[in-house]
Amino acid sequence: MNRRNFTKNCGKLCFSAMLGATFLQSCQTIQRVPNVLKGNQLIVNKSDCGDAKIVIIETEKLPSSIYLNMSDEENYIALFMQCTHLQCDVIPSGNILHCPCHGSEFSSTGKVLESPATEDLQQFKVTSDREKIYISL
Ligand code: FES
Repeated sequence: MNRRNFTKNCGKLCFSAMLGATFLQSCQTIQRVPNVLKGNQLIVNKSDCGDAKIVIIETEKLPSSIYLNMSDEENYIALFMQCTHLQCDVIPSGNILHCPCHGSEFSSTGKVLESPATEDLQQFKVTSDREKIYISL
């Protein structure tokens, strides 16, 4: 193996390890929760979220999932997990959402942290009562 191939293979290995670590980190901290669609509202049972501060909600109504941030118990934030640059799905990684297509990053409240995206992630209105969370699509 020459020096060029060695460097190339090391790069591939490092990239694979980085992706694996990101995936494992996401699996450990973020869960998908069941939901019911009524009209234009997604309804999630709080009991399905357990102690999680962040959950992912999937629905056939949308082409990408919803990232529900419940860190602030008074103000839940529901973000459309579609990059505002060219509509790739963003991936949660720690406290940020990363776009694998061109590298944009967003905060857990949807604010652009890294270009090329220039617009924040789309937010949905969220309300809740003692038992349920309601996301207006
Ligand atoms: S589609 Fe997300 S950065 Fe381009």
